[in-house]
This record gives sequence, structure tokens and C-alpha cells, in this order.
Amino acid sequence: MRYLTSGESHGPQLTTIIEGLPAGMPLLDSDINHALARRQKGHGRGRRMQIEKDTVQITGGVRHGYTLGSPVGLVVQNDDWKHWTKIMGQGPLEQEELDEVKRKISRPRPGHADLNGALKYGHRDMRNVLERSSARETTVRVAAGAVAKKLLSLLGIEVVGHVVEIGGIVSNKREYNSLEELRDITEESPVRCLDAEAAQKMMDAIDDAKKNGDSIGGIVEVVVEGMPPGVGSYVHYDRKLDAKLASAIISINAFKGVEFGIGFEAAKKPGSQVHDEIAWNDKEGYYRKTNRLGGFEGGMTSGMPIVVRGVMKPIPTLYKPLESVDIETKEPFTASIERSDSCAVPAAAVVAEHAIAWELATAILDQFYADRFEALKASVEEQRSFARDF
Ligand SMILES: Cc1cc2nc3c(=O)[nH]c(=O)nc-3n(C[C@H](O)[C@H](O)[C@H](O)COP(=O)(O)O)c2cc1C
Repeated sequence: MRYLTSGESHGPQLTTIIEGLPAGMPLLDSDINHALARRQKGHGRGRRMQIEKDTVQITGGVRHGYTLGSPVGLVVQNDDWKHWTKIMGQGPLEQEELDEVKRKISRPRPGHADLNGALKYGHRDMRNVLERSSARETTVRVAAGAVAKKLLSLLGIEVVGHVVEIGGIVSNKREYNSLEELRDITEESPVRCLDAEAAQKMMDAIDDAKKNGDSIGGIVEVVVEGMPPGVGSYVHYDRKLDAKLASAIISINAFKGVEFGIGFEAAKKPGSQVHDEIAWNDKEGYYRKTNRLGGFEGGMTSGMPIVVRGVMKPIPTLYKPLESVDIETKEPFTASIERSDSCAVPAAAVVAEHAIAWELATAILDQFYADRFEALKASVEEQRSFARDF
């Protein structure tokens, strides 16, 4: 399964085409719209989230509520497009119209793709870079991920993203009775955090950052339950599923690090406190007594919950300006900006959840029979019972 996305931040629409879904899988636009709404929530988001209420239109590949096996087209219109038709229009402009388009950008923002993108593609108006490098694109990544999440869910695999740290404030509540409980509690939290006390402090920290014209980052965690063991492979580097998940996380705008299970803590601990002992019982078959490795050994799922965390840097657009250089005059300047969010970590948790869902669904479709959904389901179930009885 694969997908491409197209669309600029202030263009008419974002588009994605998913190719490789099995036929006969139930899919409704509401499955995707729910995910898009979740991405737009979160304490610390700015004006754009109020302007746009993202909704998807399914433009191909689905009939009467079921996938056809043909490519699935998804479109999310930009509600604000009417204000951008001149600046972002596709047709050529007359000189006087060009002069009218005042929003030409010659001042690269530190921490953004602006300067590197201009140097790569030769754009002297860096709007040509920022329109595409913007995290607006994560809207359609979430849309594609929502389709993947639906597939996983129908196979008994659940994926939940939540926030474990913002601006140095750490969630102290890491235990939960079920994934459903984790999902329900964090869904109600304005910062997607399980620990209500820490959540309040996180919101205060976001408000402080905003007051100071600054921004803060954090850490998100994605937990997955229900993956059958043995998905991915140890036989070749590019078949290792943990590596694919790591790449998916790092490819999200502003993500700078990734870890599984106890992650970087493993550097400080002896092996006896890192590796998970193997046990067996009648009901579950093989399991691990602990899950410090976060669901992976040898690039394959162990059948234990997958626990993957990603670290997001603070948003680079700041009211407190950082120094840069104007590419027209070569003079230094300190950027002044119109508006920006002070923290997007809660939204990023939703993006990470969907990026992980996408990779897992792709791995499932790679490994199991994937033309008819019911046959796929039987094939995944067969692997589960094979592993149980092995
Ligand atoms: C959900 C989400 C929302 C974001 N919102 C903003 C924003 O409002 N302002 C901003 O400057 N950066 C924002 N970013 C981060 C930038 O898109 C990102 O830092 C930039 O494109 C440079 O890429 P890099 O940080 O991965 O190197 C956001 C990222 C995510 C995941």
C-alpha cells in the first residue's frame, strides 16, 4: 500500500491517493472526519484551527460504504482558499498583478525549511517553500492514516497517541487499565495527557510561552495493541518494521528523536534490566514478562504492545524574533510574524498516531494476503493462532 499527497498550505485543497487497499473493507467519510477534527484540537493552537474545520471528500475507490480495491482518493478543501486565489493561483499573473501580490517572502525563518528549500529549488520567493513544508500537509497524512487505522481496527489492532511531556513538564501517570481507558481519558484532555495534574501545568506552560512570545515542544507516545507477532523481518535492513516506524515519526514536521520502550534509558541500564524474559501460557502462547523493548525484537513485532515515542522541538515561528538574513539585501533582520501557535504537541500526538497506523497497516498488507478484506482478516487470524500454538 502506498500514498502520495499534493497541495499547498493556502492552496485550494489537499489531495491524497491511496493505492493497495483490499476490496470489501467498510469505509465511511466519518471515519476520516473524526481523525481530522482530533488533529485540530489542543490547547495552544492558533487562529487557523478556528478558520478551518477540515472535512474529507472521498473521490474514488469506495462504493456504498466499501472499498473497491481501486485507488482511494481523498480531498480536503481549504476553507480559506477564497482569500488566497491571487497569491496562490495556478495561472500566470500580469506584472501589475504580480506587484499586487505583496506577500513575497525573502526572509527565511530559522528552524524552517525556508532557506534550505530556496537553495535547493532556486525559489527567490520563499512562499514557494513554506507553503508545502508547512505542517498543514499533516492533514492528509492523518486522512490516509485514518483509513489505515480503520483497517487495523477491523483486524483487532488499536492505536492510541497521547502526550507524555510538554515544555519539561512530565506526565507522572503512565499506568492504565486498558488502551480504551487511555484513549478515553486523553481524548478529554486539552493537551492529550493522562495525568490531569500534569495536564494543567502543561497548559500553564503553554500560556506562559505564548505570553513570552515563545514556543515549547514535548514528547508524544503511540501505543499499539493487537499486532500479531512476527510482522516485519530481521532478514534485511529495509524490512525491519521498527526502522520504518522510526522513519515515520521523524518525517513528521518538527520531530527530532524517536525511541521504543524504555528507549534511551537502555544506555544507562545493565542488560538484565533491559531485556524482557520470555514466558508461555495456554491462553496467550508466548509473551514477555515485561515490555521494556516496546514490542520489537529483531525488527519484528513480538506480540507485546508497541510503545514508540517521538520528541517534537518547539515550533520555530516565534513572536520573540530570532536573527536571520534577507536574501535580497543580505542584511540581517529579526523576523516579525503575524501569528503562530505556541505549542502543537497535542496535535502532533494525533499525527504520530496516524503515521504509525499507516506503517503498521502497510506492513500487514505486505505480509498477508491482501486483495479481499475478509481473506486478509482470516490470514491475520491464522498467524495469531499459529503463533499461539507454536
Ligand atoms: C501538528 C504540527 C503543527 C505545526 N504548527 C506549526 C506552526 O504553527 N508554526 C510553525 O512555525 N511550525 C509549526 N510546525 C513545525 C514546522 O512545520 C516544522 O518545524 C518546519 O516545517 C521545519 O521542519 P523540521 O522542524 O522538521 O526541520 C508544526 C508541526 C506539527 C507536527
